[in-house]
Amino acid sequence: MMFNLKGKTALVTGAARGIGFVSAEKLAENGAAVVLGDINEAQVLESAARLREKGHEAIGVPMDVTDDGSIRNAIELGVGKFGGIDIVVNNAGILSAATIENMQRREWDRVLDVNLSGTFFVIQAALAHLKKSESPRIINISSLTGRNGGFEGSMCYAASKGGVIAITRGMARKLAPFRITVNAICPGSIETDILKGYSPEAVERQKSNILLGRLGRPEEIAAAVCYLASAESAFVTGVTLDVNGGAYMG
Ligand SMILES: NC(=O)c1ccc[n+]([C@@H]2O[C@H](COP(=O)([O-])OP(=O)(O)OC[C@H]3O[C@@H](n4cnc5c(N)ncnc54)[C@H](O)[C@@H]3O)[C@@H](O)[C@H]2O)c1
Repeated sequence: MMFNLKGKTALVTGAARGIGFVSAEKLAENGAAVVLGDINEAQVLESAARLREKGHEAIGVPMDVTDDGSIRNAIELGVGKFGGIDIVVNNAGILSAATIENMQRREWDRVLDVNLSGTFFVIQAALAHLKKSESPRIINISSLTGRNGGFEGSMCYAASKGGVIAITRGMARKLAPFRITVNAICPGSIETDILKGYSPEAVERQKSNILLGRLGRPEEIAAAVCYLASAESAFVTGVTLDVNGGAYMG
């Protein structure tokens, strides 16, 4: 066990698969009870069952981060089961690879709604519970694209992830009086299903920008999530942590 998260409850959005699932698994391995929320109900229930089979405290809940009622319901289910929420990991996200010329307003709005508005409204809904926690943590999954504008992704993805960094900093200020730390992680290119949204050539081009010469693994983001969830990170807030193999230094 790297960190001691015993007695803590973590809500992870977009946890049916990929970075969200592995983050939930690593938080659970460090002792947290985990609430896995995802729009993909069948897969999130199965993923939570896998964690329970390994002996972890976990529930899967259907959750669409663009729907306030669905967010509230997921949080109530989690609080009902485990008694509170100490850690929120805003991980649910979708990609867009539309060009400037081809972008449709509907796609623009959807990506902003899931990635940016979803992050904000999940925090808003969880806030009352976080304020009751002894060591409340908010961890927002942004992206390298939110830092540098991106190479292959669309402008709505870049805007959404840049927005996540901005609200991470703003909320760190506003929530500090409640001892709530708010930090962002910017993954570079990580081997998950989301990369299927790019052509193989585009993924190769991304790889060529990575100093360490390989894609990252979800476990490498989950380790950063566990650190920012831990007691050891109590003095870290408003930070944007880059985990990208050296693709960006700034
Ligand atoms: N993989 C990468 O290279 C990479 C790089 C930078 C940032 N990220 C970010 O990491 C996060 C996780 O991505 P991933 O690579 O694991 O992708 P993924 O596609 O494997 O997982 C995303 C999960 O979010 C869920 N989701 C989508 N819309 C949702 C909604 N409205 N409500 C709730 N859940 C929803 C999906 O069902 C899926 O389970 C995303 O925010 C993504 O933007 C990923």
